[in-house]
Amino acid sequence: MRRKFVYLAILLGIALTSWIYWKSNVGNNSLVFFKSKNYIIKDIQIKPSSFSCKRHPFLIILVTSYVGHVELRSAHRRAMPSDMLRQMNTSRVFLLAQIPAKEKYITQSAIKDESDEFGDILQGTFTENYRNLTYKHLMGLQWASINCAKSKFILKVDDDTVFNLEKTYQLLKTLDHSSNFFMGYMLNNTKPKRNKENKWYVTWNEYSRTEYPPYLSGWYYITTPGAAAMVSEEAIYHPYFWIDDIFVTGILTEALDIKLRQLPDNYWLEYYELLECCLKDMIKKSIKCDYVLGPNGGRNNLIVEFNNALRNCSSWQNCKPRTEKQSLNKVCVAYKQRTIFSDGGKAEVRSIRLL
Ligand SMILES: *[C@@H]1O[C@H](CO)[C@@H](O)[C@H](O)[C@H]1NC(C)=O
Ligand SMILES: *[C@@H]1O[C@H](CO)[C@@H](O)[C@H](O)[C@H]1NC(C)=O
Ligand SMILES: *[C@@H]1O[C@H](CO)[C@@H](O)[C@H](O)[C@H]1NC(C)=O
Ligand SMILES: *[C@@H]1O[C@H](CO)[C@@H](O)[C@H](O)[C@H]1NC(C)=O
Repeated sequence: MRRKFVYLAILLGIALTSWIYWKSNVGNNSLVFFKSKNYIIKDIQIKPSSFSCKRHPFLIILVTSYVGHVELRSAHRRAMPSDMLRQMNTSRVFLLAQIPAKEKYITQSAIKDESDEFGDILQGTFTENYRNLTYKHLMGLQWASINCAKSKFILKVDDDTVFNLEKTYQLLKTLDHSSNFFMGYMLNNTKPKRNKENKWYVTWNEYSRTEYPPYLSGWYYITTPGAAAMVSEEAIYHPYFWIDDIFVTGILTEALDIKLRQLPDNYWLEYYELLECCLKDMIKKSIKCDYVLGPNGGRNNLIVEFNNALRNCSSWQNCKPRTEKQSLNKVCVAYKQRTIFSDGGKAEVRSIRLL
């Protein structure tokens, strides 16, 4: 009799634990990512205000942002204010993690205040570190695929990417959102760095093949909520790999057989100096800048200036096209040091396509 009671209690205990475990997995606050030995569960600490994409079902912009980059987030908000986003049926969410111990300039209560004011922050419970970026990336895709399932597109950028929304919008209008794809700057035939000194050094244990599958630069890519749901569900069947764009847009899309697409030619400026030069020509010489994005070169306000100048140029209707003779690589001195891949070292840029 007593024995039976013990068994029953144990059974009940198991049932209760599984139920709690299951609840925590399906709950709004939890994300299940990896199954190496056990599921690794990462929680969300701050969520964006609940209406952020239900009301604006065209595009959701996910901006990967280091928790301490307060000024960069402010620049994004000034370059593309929420009124403007609303008119374009677009919403924006910044992806943050926990403040690392070495960070002296930001507090969690300041992040909470920022979230209360703008309602555009999604913060995970893992710590900011480039080796944790895969969590952050998947957190964004998983959140968007659940909460913005009705949106047509997802745009993923980094906080130091300078881009223009109107031109992005024009491209999106030409795309078919009913098929699942990833579109961005495609990198083929790249190889893992195997020397220990490299920041992107990858052990054979972490990645055992000699070449990465084709993948997209995480600086700027376009996908759909459907494709985002597929990759975030697929992730749990793969061991964690910390180079986030390779893992998400390469390894997972390959496993799922999701098509990668290349962005149009003359869409990117790979070098910060060229973007700066294109901007100066717009402001000083009224020469059109047809590029849609580039790196900010550490200049927080560049995204604001670039968007303002582009708007001025198109509303003023008097900007001249760039002529053959004014081709950017002739008139601009490019130092070719800070490329959009400079922090990557993951891949060398082989060609510079210029107008
Ligand atoms: C935004 O969505 C509304 C309602 O679906 C639609 O009427 C409007 O044309 C859309 N605006 C843009 C700029 O796409
Ligand atoms: C990643 O985040 C976890 C917390 O989820 C933390 O314990 C770990 O130290 C972080 N990784 C690195 C390399 O900082
Ligand atoms: C990578 O390969 C695809 C075809 O598989 C091609 O469309 C694309 O242009 C290539 N990208 C680069 C940067 O070479
Ligand atoms: C817009 O362009 C015109 C013509 O180049 C210039 O006079 C004006 O200062 C510009 N305004 C802004 C806000 O850049």
